[in-house]
Amino acid sequence: YSDVKVGAALLTADGKIYTGCNVENASFGVTLCAERVAVAKAISDGIRDFKAIAVISSLRFITPCGICRQTLNEFAPEIEIVMEAEDGYTVQCLTDLLPASFGMRDKK
Ligand code: THU
Repeated sequence: YSDVKVGAALLTADGKIYTGCNVENASFGVTLCAERVAVAKAISDGIRDFKAIAVISSLRFITPCGICRQTLNEFAPEIEIVMEAEDGYTVQCLTDLLPASFGMRDKK
């Protein structure tokens, strides 16, 4: 529907790579981003330790959306995010992209 193509590659702590693409829906809000598809594939395989995620798209220079940042924060608050940039790519820590994040892990 959007004609935007997004791909993500999630690197696990034990060196595996899970890929994902955006999965759109006629009911637009149902759409899944590539990053969350990659995370769900890994989690459903029982893997929840992640080192990095790369994201690339047919729009240049995208960063993960807010929902994807929150999803990543649940499992890997310090994950490195690799994104396309003018001169190749750039890497940022999720803590920089999602400061003062909400979590329940340490609160229970
Ligand atoms: N999209 C992603 O897959 N990842 C992002 O981080 C941002 C947006 C997708 C969702 C939708 O299919 C399309 O890009 C346009 O928003």
